[in-house]
Amino acid sequence: MINKDLNEKEYLEFCVFLEKHCGIVLGSNKHYLVRSRLSPLLSEFKCDSLSQLIQRVMTLRERALRSTVIDAMTTNETLWFRDKYPFEILMKRFLPEFSKLNRPLKIWSAASSSGQEPYSIAMTCMEYRERNPGQLRMGFDILGTDISASMLAHCKNGEYDKLALSRGLSPERLKKYFNASSTSCFTVKDEVKKHVSFREFNLLESCSILGRFDIIFCRNVLIYFSPDVKRQIFANFAKVANKESYLMLGASESVNGLTEKFTMERDPLGICYRLAQ
Ligand SMILES: C[S@@+](CC[C@H](N)C(=O)[O-])C[C@H]1O[C@@H](n2cnc3c(N)ncnc32)[C@H](O)[C@@H]1O
Repeated sequence: MINKDLNEKEYLEFCVFLEKHCGIVLGSNKHYLVRSRLSPLLSEFKCDSLSQLIQRVMTLRERALRSTVIDAMTTNETLWFRDKYPFEILMKRFLPEFSKLNRPLKIWSAASSSGQEPYSIAMTCMEYRERNPGQLRMGFDILGTDISASMLAHCKNGEYDKLALSRGLSPERLKKYFNASSTSCFTVKDEVKKHVSFREFNLLESCSILGRFDIIFCRNVLIYFSPDVKRQIFANFAKVANKESYLMLGASESVNGLTEKFTMERDPLGICYRLAQ
């Protein structure tokens, strides 16, 4: 009989573990969340109880277990062209400003989940170039990163089912940028994929290994982190941000009170942030 109980001490220890390893702050009384997300892993990792699984993950000896548990505790919700306005700002403000660059434009999607955000960025850049021939002449490279190995595998594969494709993608873009790969799935075309690369990366680590960027999208992940972790992440972003670069956060996220390295700019289309000069 599998035991899914979790006492207060174990719950609190697990909260500390999670915040230390991926930044996520669970807060009090989220026992149900831990139970519902981790219980499905018990048989896979041959554990008789939730306590046993949690004890094992905290010994840190089992990398596969640790990354599966972190994966299970993160929220991967995403969709195509999420919130629309970031992609309109990209099209109407960011890309025109960078259009004369004499090197490739570098864009980072810093919590890319299953890939909808970096691929939406690539489609926007491709459409910009179609509408403005001769601009962004040196091309553009998009890097998608995430802590979740399973999400990155999904990103690289670039295959989406009809439900995922129905969320935010127009029929015109589906036709233009995807090939049917089965009766119910479509795969991102190589002409889009060639602009996007993916790698595993934990936002708690230094990002200098990733290179430098002109535009950073970091959306709908900072909400899970403490103010101290957000401060550190903004400081890390500033170190890899090229001069004049932009930062785009999620609709409910902000740099206010956390950093002076990025300043808010109120574009008519929505809010974005710029590296302070
Ligand atoms: C809600 S999704 C956001 C996806 C996309 N940016 C969007 O706005 O639609 C949050 C993503 O952040 C990732 N994540 C959580 N903690 C992370 C960390 N410490 N480092 C990198 N990625 C992390 C999760 O794996 C998940 O895929």
